[in-house]
This record gives sequence, structure tokens and C-alpha cells, in this order.
Amino acid sequence: MDALKATGLCRSYGKGDLRTKVLDGFNFSLPPGAFEVLMGPSGSGKSTFLHIAAGLLAADAGAVEVGGADVTALGDGAAARFRRRHVGVVFQAFNLVDTLDVAANIELPVRLDRRIPDAARLDELLGKLGLAGKERRMPQELSGGERQRVAIARALYARPDVILADEPTGNLDVASAKSVRDMLRSIHEGEKSAILLVTHDPVVAAAANRVHFLKDGRIAASHDIPSHDPAEISRLYLEVYK
Ligand SMILES: Nc1ncnc2c1ncn2[C@@H]1O[C@H](COP(=O)(O)OP(=O)(O)O)[C@@H](O)[C@H]1O
Ligand SMILES: [Mg+2]
Repeated sequence: MDALKATGLCRSYGKGDLRTKVLDGFNFSLPPGAFEVLMGPSGSGKSTFLHIAAGLLAADAGAVEVGGADVTALGDGAAARFRRRHVGVVFQAFNLVDTLDVAANIELPVRLDRRIPDAARLDELLGKLGLAGKERRMPQELSGGERQRVAIARALYARPDVILADEPTGNLDVASAKSVRDMLRSIHEGEKSAILLVTHDPVVAAAANRVHFLKDGRIAASHDIPSHDPAEISRLYLEVYK
């Protein structure tokens, strides 16, 4: 069973003559524990897909399954509950709660789920993400790279089937972007969650094992990238979007 599977997904925005199809019979699958990257020009529908997969946006047609359950069939409350357990989301803008410290931000989805936080899990993730000793810091006291690592720890906490990361390095300088990339790679090696990364940056994309290119509302090409070579990814990109 795939960690994530989209079948025949369609989504348009706007009305009448202004209506544009962003996803148009989009099919995609992500095996359990995989680390793959979705690329495409700005406006090609990457965020639209991730938002539908996270249960944050409705599809016009088609289905998305996470760990075998259809997220597109859930109502708002059930989608939020399902997401807290099965899907971890990481956004460009970090989306931390400014009034909560690092530990409370990481434990937030579990508390919203009325479950008891696991101190050992918190310690494990603080260690894995290079945040040990920072659990009582407030988000404003952290660098951008540290904030994004808190967001990744929060996404991982419940051991979700899949982590969806939408341009997680888009607001970071080059050095911080590389550190977040390296963290994603080590998480892939140490955690069971599959990771679907969206990025424009071939240097960040190179951490993944497979790349998919989105064009005209569908996956236009997919390639394994065992070389982890950014130049190879750029070459493949230009082949699709020439
Ligand atoms: N809420 C919205 N209303 C109208 N158009 C939208 C909305 N969200 C996205 N779009 C349009 O849909 C297209 C795809 O957007 P998006 O999924 O954000 O692309 P990407 O993440 O690949 O840059 C863009 O042309 C964008 O302008
Ligand atoms: Mg986007």
C-alpha cells in the first residue's frame, strides 16, 4: 500500500471564462518510506496538490489516499483529525505559534488531539533536528533554519505516513537551506515517514531519491536520481520545460 496515492485528481480555480484547470487527471503515488521531490514552474499546481493531499483543500474530482484511507472523502473535522495523525505538513512560512515555546510547538498537534505527549519522542526529535537545549526558546529567539527544523519536528512527531514539505527552504539563506536539506535526508534514513518535498532548488531537490515534474496538470516525467547530483536534476528539468 502506498503512503500517498492520487488518482484522477482535478482542481480548477475561478469561474466562467476565467476558469483555469490546475490539476487535470493528476495521478501520483509515493511508496512507504520513500523520499521524492515534486518540481515544476511557479503556478504549475504543486501547492494545490499538497493542500489537497493534506486535506486542506477540496478536489473537484478524483481521490487521494494516505496509508490507504481516502482523505478527499473526509469532512473538515475528520480531515483535521486524520491529518494530525497521518500527515505532517511543513510550509515555507514555518507556521509556528509565536506564543508557544519550541517544545509546545512540537507537541501542539498531539495536544490538539487530546493525547498525552511523549517526553522521549520530544527528546529524540530535538536531538535529530539539532535543537537539543532549545526546547524553552520562543520562535522569535530562533534563526530561520532553526524555526523550520522545529516545524519539521512537529510534522514528524506523530510518525505520520507522509511528510508534505512545500518549499521548506524558500525563506532560508543558502547555508540554512542546506542544513534543512541535510536534516530531511537524515530523517529519511532514521524515520519511517515517506517524504514528498516540493522545491525549485536543484541543490535541495538532490537530497531525494526520485524526482517528478508537474506540467499541464499532470506528472510529465519521473526519474530516479541515485547520483543526487543537482546538475542532473537541472538537466532533466530543462528537458521537460524547454
Ligand atoms: N485560491 C486561488 N484562487 C485562484 N487561483 C488560484 C488560487 N490558488 C492558486 N491559484 C492559481 O492556481 C495555479 C497553481 O497554483 P499553485 O498550486 O499555488 O502553484 P505552485 O505551487 O506550483 O506555484 C496558479 O496559476 C495560481 O495563480
Ligand atoms: Mg507553491
